[in-house]
Amino acid sequence: MTDNKRPEGMARINTPELAAAFIDEQVKELKAQIGDSKVLLALSGGVDSSVVAALLIKAVGRQLVCVHVNHGLLRKGEPEQVIEVFRNQMDANLIYVDAVDRFLDKLAGETDPEKKRKIIGGEFIKVFEEEARKLDGIKFLGQGTIYPDILESDGIKAHHNVGGLPAEMNLELVEPLKFLYKDEVRCVGRALGLPAGMVDRQPFPGPGLGVRCVGAITRDRLEAVRESDAILREEFAKNGLEGKVWQYFTVVPDVRSTGIRDGKRCFEWPVVLRAVNTVDAITATVEDIPFALLQHITSRIINEVPGVNRVLYDLTPKPIATIEWE
Ligand code: XMP
Repeated sequence: MTDNKRPEGMARINTPELAAAFIDEQVKELKAQIGDSKVLLALSGGVDSSVVAALLIKAVGRQLVCVHVNHGLLRKGEPEQVIEVFRNQMDANLIYVDAVDRFLDKLAGETDPEKKRKIIGGEFIKVFEEEARKLDGIKFLGQGTIYPDILESDGIKAHHNVGGLPAEMNLELVEPLKFLYKDEVRCVGRALGLPAGMVDRQPFPGPGLGVRCVGAITRDRLEAVRESDAILREEFAKNGLEGKVWQYFTVVPDVRSTGIRDGKRCFEWPVVLRAVNTVDAITATVEDIPFALLQHITSRIINEVPGVNRVLYDLTPKPIATIEWE
């Protein structure tokens, strides 16, 4: 498909000047393509959808309708950041959908990892579609497709995530980043004024914390994942590891072990820390975190996260272990 091939000789966008030139050209093209119609975009707050949103806002302003679905499996502070950056700072036309109960009710009791993924992906499409049907005059669908997604159409994203709106909605795709590599998307995002914390963030799976709350998701254990993840991220940022380690997160498996809290026996969950480096996510090595930092993170987690009395560090490379636990 010639349509899906990066134009020959296209320069690698790696300076603010090249990013600015790309943005100018795209803004012109998007204006011409979209005219005075409306564009719909699912804005997760990840790098790709955030950069597409910022670009479309620059081109067509409030003709872009962003839908942010909070499925309850986002990291601590993420929905708030999407609202702050896009609605408050960029004046985006943003619909925030609180679908937390709906997702968690649907997921209740499901232990099979692939079924969990299907429920999350399927429910996401339903919620998005319901929102889309409430709107008039939408002609286009914005998407954060990037070049690696096209090259690896059987890659991790395509393999795991259920995607796409039903064809009968008949929306024309707008994919302004489809020839860009990830580093170029980040460069464009910076030039569009998106905060560093949004542009440089580590990869985050579509099903979010759902695959890190191993087994059947419960609200209390999901909170343990979210709170411990926030502590790990905060400590990595403070200790210069943010942006250095490729991906890091916590996992809470559905087991309990004995501990002693305030002189009484307690039977609580362990938190597993995972921090890996990789080039292509096909193989990965484990980050050598300084022991003192591991001890400090452990102390914070057992003191600050309800229901947790033990912290472990996952020392397993990929292969044999995948990066995620599910
Ligand atoms: P694994 O666990 O397969 O992960 O070693 C490799 C990379 O893919 C991410 N990942 C996902 N991304 N939807 C996604 O969009 C998913 O269902 C999914 N599962 C894993 C994982 O975070 C890692 O970066």
